[in-house]
Amino acid sequence: MRSALSFFTFGLAAVELTNALPRAYQAPSRRSSVNILDDVLVFDAPAFDDPANPGNTLVQLQAYVSSRELSLEPLLSGISGLLNKTLGLDISNSTDRAAERLALFGTIPLSNKDVTVNVNGCGDAASLPPTDSGMAIQNLTIGACNGTVSTLGTVKLTGIDSRNTNFTVFPSSADGFGVISDIDDTVKVSHSLDKLLLAKATLVDDPVPVTGMPDVFKSLAASLNSPQFIYVSASPFQLYPFLRDFIDTTYAASSGPIFLNNLTTTSLTSIIDFAKNDGIFEYKSAMIDRIAGMYPGKKFLTVGDSTQKDPETYGEAIRKYGDFIACAWIRKVDGANNTDARFAAAFAGVDPSKFKLYTDDEIPGLADVDVAGGKCS
Ligand SMILES: *[C@@H]1O[C@H](CO)[C@@H](O)[C@H](O)[C@H]1NC(C)=O
Ligand SMILES: *[C@@H]1O[C@H](CO)[C@@H](O)[C@H](O)[C@H]1NC(C)=O
Ligand SMILES: *[C@@H]1O[C@H](CO)[C@@H](O)[C@H](O)[C@H]1NC(C)=O
Ligand SMILES: *[C@@H]1O[C@H](CO)[C@@H](O)[C@H](O)[C@H]1NC(C)=O
Ligand SMILES: *[C@@H]1O[C@H](CO)[C@@H](O)[C@H](O)[C@H]1NC(C)=O
Ligand SMILES: *[C@@H]1O[C@H](CO)[C@@H](O)[C@H](O)[C@H]1NC(C)=O
Ligand SMILES: *[C@@H]1O[C@H](CO)[C@@H](O)[C@H](O)[C@H]1NC(C)=O
Repeated sequence: MRSALSFFTFGLAAVELTNALPRAYQAPSRRSSVNILDDVLVFDAPAFDDPANPGNTLVQLQAYVSSRELSLEPLLSGISGLLNKTLGLDISNSTDRAAERLALFGTIPLSNKDVTVNVNGCGDAASLPPTDSGMAIQNLTIGACNGTVSTLGTVKLTGIDSRNTNFTVFPSSADGFGVISDIDDTVKVSHSLDKLLLAKATLVDDPVPVTGMPDVFKSLAASLNSPQFIYVSASPFQLYPFLRDFIDTTYAASSGPIFLNNLTTTSLTSIIDFAKNDGIFEYKSAMIDRIAGMYPGKKFLTVGDSTQKDPETYGEAIRKYGDFIACAWIRKVDGANNTDARFAAAFAGVDPSKFKLYTDDEIPGLADVDVAGGKCS
């Protein structure tokens, strides 16, 4: 029960017993477009040069479609009862906030939905394949966008539907730098190692950055010449609105797409199995493969912490990809396994000049590291 993921697994599994979760859903037999009864979330998306068509840009787009207007009350009372009972955490003063953060857990995913988007200044509308359990992901061609600025995307809705469904496209060139960063306890204080504090930080508290990190990332944005920042977290995608808002405001100078775990509430068994298997290493490694597929010619600084599997994931990525990972930074979090034995195993076979373990008082100094010049510490 250490990660945000297992926290929610825990919560949802128990709520399922009370039948409070919307579990069953019917896959519509016919394809249809997003209509006024549906909610659509398009994740901020990375864009990259199309290897097959020079001058063309691909955007790796992911969308989630669910039914609207679901009552959150059963889910919320299930969760708050459970938190009260198991952790002694009373969230009755903050139910509005908790409801907002849990909202996507209460949605019913819709299959066979077509999502069509426009990206400003990038040519034609593009359509995802029909959703499967609410999700669709695909590389879409959006023509030439000139790869320099964040770009506004919108979902095409019917004429009577006036909702704003904007998302941001983050294009980046085939070369230059990128930064892959974890979120919980790397850039945001989440207390992953303490169930009670984790629950509070996730559901109730204002999100708080790890002291000094917004400045470090701001300085990287300049020294690495507008690198592609990509945030990779094992938290469930249902927390996306909360985390996106945090990154967009607190890390405005280093905003970027956020890759979260693609788990739907319709398949609780698989959520539980996933947590049991502690699949975080596999998940994060798959996300690094995903990024390497889009930006094979870039060099990435990877930033993480010692609470979960970041040292193991980044060590493995360096062994697998070599110079594609320019450097790995690991924050040593109090209470985590910070033993020499752990880091030696995680970075076995890796040149010590390729990674840096840092404590909180070393954070301000990270801004002075010449990562662009090939240094890691
Ligand atoms: C929390 O649990 C305590 C004791 O188990 C109970 O007295 C209290 O009413 C509960 N509070 C809420 C908000 O459910
Ligand atoms: C809820 O709010 C009341 C009034 O502001 C306060 O006295 C009480 O301590 C709060 N309870 C919790 C659990 O935060
Ligand atoms: C997300 O999950 C859905 C449903 O299991 C699946 O169809 C889809 O391919 C997944 N997408 C990604 C990016 O893993
Ligand atoms: C991209 O740049 C070229 C040349 O600078 C320009 O002709 C074209 O209109 C630009 N395309 C977009 C979508 O801004
Ligand atoms: C979405 O984009 C439109 C422009 O296409 C803008 O008018 C609107 O304010 C944006 N909405 C949000 C929520 O950002
Ligand atoms: C998108 O393109 C990248 C780079 O070519 C590739 O690695 C990846 O598998 C593609 N993803 C999908 C969903 O087609
Ligand atoms: C820390 O990690 C090492 C290497 O994986 C392991 O051998 C050791 O038992 C762990 N220590 C604790 C306290 O978990």
